[in-house]
Amino acid sequence: MTLTRLTLGACVALVAAGGVRAADVNEGAAEALARKSGCLKCHSTARDKDGPSYKSIAAKYKGQPDAQQKLVAFLSKESTIKVDGKEDKHKPLDTKSEGEVANVAGWILTR
Ligand code: HEC
Repeated sequence: MTLTRLTLGACVALVAAGGVRAADVNEGAAEALARKSGCLKCHSTARDKDGPSYKSIAAKYKGQPDAQQKLVAFLSKESTIKVDGKEDKHKPLDTKSEGEVANVAGWILTR
């Protein structure tokens, strides 16, 4: 357990330090948390569902140096989004760990 935490912490430190690299992301942990949080009901990696695919989100943020920070902020608390011109609530991730949020943000950005 402690080792897992340390490893995840180290990954996240790297991710937070600059551009996200796929090798720094713990994919299994990211996907498990996304699933547990209900994200995959509206999002899939490659296909648009109710929400945009993670690939298209990664494409939208490509080359933006603050993308990682933006997604961490977006996924840490309930956010307001616009769906078909109407305001709607967007769920945060089901965790209190900043590291786990950063890992999911990095995972999305490296799709
Ligand atoms: C009820 C459906 C729904 C659920 C559940 C949901 N999302 Fe979304 N999500 C959306 C929609 C719709 C958008 C598009 C908002 C827009 O275009 O402004 C979106 C946008 C996003 C974005 C892009 C934000 C941006 O700045 O472009 C990310 C990242 C994201 N979701 C991740 C997640 C994660 C991670 C979860 C789980 C905690 C989640 N979503 C749960 C529907 C959902």
